[in-house]
Amino acid sequence: MRFGKQDRLFVLTGAGISAESGLATFRGSGGLWNGHRVEEVATPEAWEANPELVWRFYSMRRRDATDAQPNAAHRALAAIEEQMGDRFYLCTQNVDDLHERGGSRRLHHMHGELFQSRCVSCERPFSDRKFYESAAALPACETCGEPVRPHIVWFGEIPLDMEGIYRQLDRATVLLVIGTSGSVYPAAGFVHIANQRGIRTMYIGPEEPQNAEAFDEILSGTATEIVPQLLYTFRSFQSRCQNAARDY
Ligand code: OAD
Repeated sequence: MRFGKQDRLFVLTGAGISAESGLATFRGSGGLWNGHRVEEVATPEAWEANPELVWRFYSMRRRDATDAQPNAAHRALAAIEEQMGDRFYLCTQNVDDLHERGGSRRLHHMHGELFQSRCVSCERPFSDRKFYESAAALPACETCGEPVRPHIVWFGEIPLDMEGIYRQLDRATVLLVIGTSGSVYPAAGFVHIANQRGIRTMYIGPEEPQNAEAFDEILSGTATEIVPQLLYTFRSFQSRCQNAARDY
């Protein structure tokens, strides 16, 4: 697929883009953590029943993400953003901070952020890189004393700023989806919205996602194999446009 200067690009990423940075995907690891299904740890019900277990899970993920480095796909997306400016928008389902560390700026974490926490009562997110791994160490709000939870959208909760996401999708001419199984809604439904609006769609990943039939194009390969190539195509298209404008 060609895309260039006149296009508005909406990128959706999932766990697959961070896989080559060493972070396990959800379904790839069998969806299990210490014998628990991820859905059993990442829910409001799990939090009610066992906040210590939930904080141990997210503390482990904080440790893993702290050790991981952005890869060539994160960096290539940041380079495309640099060229496209505000015609680029990145919506990630990932809670790690590898896109930011790879240089992305116009970025929305629809499922929350691993390095933020919030009081269950005051609800204001704040930056937090600590690990809470025992019942005695669970955090409480400094203002009201209520428990502090991870700033993560759990199963059954509504992703953050859906209005802003749909506004961006409305303006897009190309939807590029990278490394997500297409099994968790509403993100898995973006491609259907794009189809209704005539937006071109492309998927990048080593396996077909569950919603594969909805995409115009599927590029089979890993994120670090394919996203940097896309940057190259984009750059050569841009320079052909510049040459054509100069020759005219
Ligand atoms: P999944 O684990 O469901 O899917 C990961 C996808 O990445 C799979 O389709 C893999 O084929 C693909 N993949 C693996 N290695 C890759 C690579 N090197 N390059 C590109 N793709 C690769 O993860 P998500 O689809 O992100 O939600 O999961 C969606 C949501 O479900 C998550 O945000 C999380 C989860 O449970 C919440 O926590 C609310």
